[in-house]
Amino acid sequence: MHFTRWGFVMVALAGCSSSATSAMPDAAPSPPDARPGVFPAGFLWGGATAAYQAESAASPASDWSVWETLPGKIKNGDRSADGPDQWDHYEADFALAQSMGHNAYRFSIEWARIEPTPGTFDEAAITHYRTMIASMKAHGLRPIVTLWHFTNPTWVQDPSGGRSLGGWETQATVDAYVSYVTRVVPRFADVVDFWITLNEPMVYIIQGYFFGMWPPGHGIDLDNAVKVHNHLIDAHVRGFDAIHAHYATLEQPVAVTIASNWVAFDPASASSADVDATRGLERLVDYAFLDAIVKGDVDTALDGAAVVHRDAYANHVDVIGVNFYQRELVTAGAIGIVPGVPSIDPSAPLKNDLGWELYPAGMGRALDGLWARYHVPIVITENGIADAADRYRSWYIVTNLDEVQKAVTRGVDVRGYLHWALVDNFEWAEGLAPRFGLVAVDYGAPEKTRTIRASAGAMIEIIKVNEVTSEIKSRWGAAP
Ligand code: GCO
Repeated sequence: MHFTRWGFVMVALAGCSSSATSAMPDAAPSPPDARPGVFPAGFLWGGATAAYQAESAASPASDWSVWETLPGKIKNGDRSADGPDQWDHYEADFALAQSMGHNAYRFSIEWARIEPTPGTFDEAAITHYRTMIASMKAHGLRPIVTLWHFTNPTWVQDPSGGRSLGGWETQATVDAYVSYVTRVVPRFADVVDFWITLNEPMVYIIQGYFFGMWPPGHGIDLDNAVKVHNHLIDAHVRGFDAIHAHYATLEQPVAVTIASNWVAFDPASASSADVDATRGLERLVDYAFLDAIVKGDVDTALDGAAVVHRDAYANHVDVIGVNFYQRELVTAGAIGIVPGVPSIDPSAPLKNDLGWELYPAGMGRALDGLWARYHVPIVITENGIADAADRYRSWYIVTNLDEVQKAVTRGVDVRGYLHWALVDNFEWAEGLAPRFGLVAVDYGAPEKTRTIRASAGAMIEIIKVNEVTSEIKSRWGAAP
């Protein structure tokens, strides 16, 4: 069986209300300059990574550092420590980002590194991140900082069964996360004004509690998935409030959001069963978490049947962060409460190295869907392609950004585009083979040599003129 990025997930069919809620930012990314071209003034252009995937430095004890050592968990037995080592090479990476015209960089700080034991904060780690941020700024990059990108300290969750708080299934972990956020954010408030509390909560739930492909490695565990979902919502809401409370005391603006994955789901056939299953998956994967923190509509049992409105959760984003990669076709098929089985269209002409369908029109659909539902400004926090041979990347960049441009022209408020990834990095269970970087990294070279890929030229040119011109389209965007 061919497993897609999503494989199968649980879903219910009942729809939920979609009245637009406004949560306009008091500090959405602000325009520093006005430039000609189609993208709005101050548009954020940059790359993205996450700590565990890019740092590759003596990794602190986290659920992933344990997970990696368990047999069969990572393809080819790859190890994150053999990755790009941005911990030591950040200066080179930021110089390359600057040379490509970037004005922003999304990365994450590692909870396990900062708080290696409960309540103890590692000053050397904080200093290192502050030095990295200073270097970013010296290279003209606005830091966009993710506080949690999938990894947990082992004292929070230990997949080898050691003593821990029990992970996101427990309220204790929510409290620990909020205390981490409350302690760590003030240490960066003078240099950071854009925070992402959580990366792709729904992907975390699906990989960890349905596929069992990521820690904690539970196969279809609906009870705990529901708990984790409710806890992550609570963690975001409390983290958001704590960050805003702190910046209010400083009288400084701040933007806070999550990075939410969005998959373009289409029915595999015109049958009403497939169409219903598609709508169900869409509601669950693309919107359930955002519905909770933007509209206050919480899918308390993840089955669409028990959506509870909690006013206190509404309007908890300043901007929407969206990660968009691919399309999947949905066939109805009950597996427990799972009516929809997504798969890649076998006839899809273009796929990345991981077999995901390349479908740029989905970018436009994502932006339109999110804008219509929430009416909150959007930043594309990830979009990219595993393409080791660099055959499709320039086409992918041009066609996806053309979709962004068209959406902007239609009136969708898009504030930035961050390409995944700035540099090649560790792709979780897929290991080191997938190459997502605008910058290629020679993992085998002692100096971890960095080389800008030819395809990055497409983004460089778009940034330069702040527009996807027809000339750029014909030069870089020809169908591969
Ligand atoms: C995710 C993450 C990234 C991935 C990227 C490419 O979506 O899983 O945010 O960590 O590396 O999306 O798959």
